[in-house]
Amino acid sequence: MTDSQIHKGLAGVVVDYTAVSKVNPETNSLLYRGYPVQELAAKCSFEEVAYLLWHGELPDSGQLSDFQAVERSYRTLDDNVKRVVDDLPLTAHPMDVLRTAVSVIGANDGQADVSTPEANLAKSIALLGKIPAIVAYDQRRRRRQPIVEPRDDLGYSANFLYMTFGEVPAQVVVDAFDVSMILYAEHSFNASTFTARVVTSTLSDLYSAVVAAIGALKGPLHGGANEAVMHVFDEIGEAAKAEEWLNTALAEKRKIMGFGHRVYKNGDSRVPTMKAALDTLVAEYEAQDLAELYDALESSMTSRKSILPNLDYPSGPAYHLMGFDTLTFTPLFVASRVTGWTAHIMEQLASNALIRPLSLYNGPEERHLP
Ligand code: SDX
Repeated sequence: MTDSQIHKGLAGVVVDYTAVSKVNPETNSLLYRGYPVQELAAKCSFEEVAYLLWHGELPDSGQLSDFQAVERSYRTLDDNVKRVVDDLPLTAHPMDVLRTAVSVIGANDGQADVSTPEANLAKSIALLGKIPAIVAYDQRRRRRQPIVEPRDDLGYSANFLYMTFGEVPAQVVVDAFDVSMILYAEHSFNASTFTARVVTSTLSDLYSAVVAAIGALKGPLHGGANEAVMHVFDEIGEAAKAEEWLNTALAEKRKIMGFGHRVYKNGDSRVPTMKAALDTLVAEYEAQDLAELYDALESSMTSRKSILPNLDYPSGPAYHLMGFDTLTFTPLFVASRVTGWTAHIMEQLASNALIRPLSLYNGPEERHLP
């Protein structure tokens, strides 16, 4: 083996087939089971997209109402999940709380190690229902607010917002949130999805794969970027200071959160749709100052480094305007991406191939004890 065989970060390396989604940097497009994500965001609900990712086809009205009924049945957390979360410090990062809670849900599941497609589908829809409850529970406990129980008369996004804030916001907010869930749902072999596939390839269980994926998504080079974008905006403060801040940050060799992508090099296909959703929220909340800061940093970054925004750049300020704590942003990514992760887990199981790459040794040559 030689150095030329090494592909650090697996950049540009094709390791397997997937039928779940197609990311095409040449055409700057993203297809979920063949459908352009922009069309799904415009015409479908997140529940329909979750069904599509898992079943390969969009649901008809009967299939959708059955699917929704099952998802709604999982919106209440078991008492031991609440006890474990309550025992965690209020300063615990919400991604650590979420990872821990999913572990408990897995430990509670007597079928955890049964990996038939039916069993994994049941676990997946259970997590779809339960993760919003965990995210809402954790944000309210941190804010020392009373816990809000789910409402069965509300769809996925409206109920998520209701459990988090104690009321259903304007439809424009529910719609923007639903669009963000659709856009975050799936993105082929990104780091957290590939993590889930690696764990699954050993024939470990779905919960272990999801917990591992949550750990991977937490990192600021991946899912943690949407939280980091708001920290950047807080650092800059106002649009007039964006260019000066950027010059300093780039001089310090900092990665500017919310910009760049390993696969897309001419811009993230999802950004225009999420930016349009952000614009509706800017109008709803009269957040012109935030919009100007957003535009100022983007134009400075693209002119200085010709590196374009990724999905985390518009989604961070969108979640901020919706009222979520900044620390809650990446758990929102988990709530959506758990659909893509579990679709890949089921696909990896069917391919039944252990993932085990090679390495080129560059440590001490063979030597022996005296
Ligand atoms: C997500 O893979 C997916 O599909 C992920 C995702 C999904 O849906 O699952 O799309 C979600 O993770 C989006 C990315 C969120 N992360 C961030 O916003 C963090 C900031 N971005 C960078 O860290 C970076 O752009 C990466 C990690 C996302 C991609 O980096 P690459 O492709 O490995 O590129 P690189 O780090 O090799 O950078 C190439 C050059 C470098 O300059 P040089 O050292 O060659 O001079 O571009 C520079 C980098 O320094 N660069 C940046 C930059 N991104 C790249 N410089 C400053 N700020 C940035 N954001």
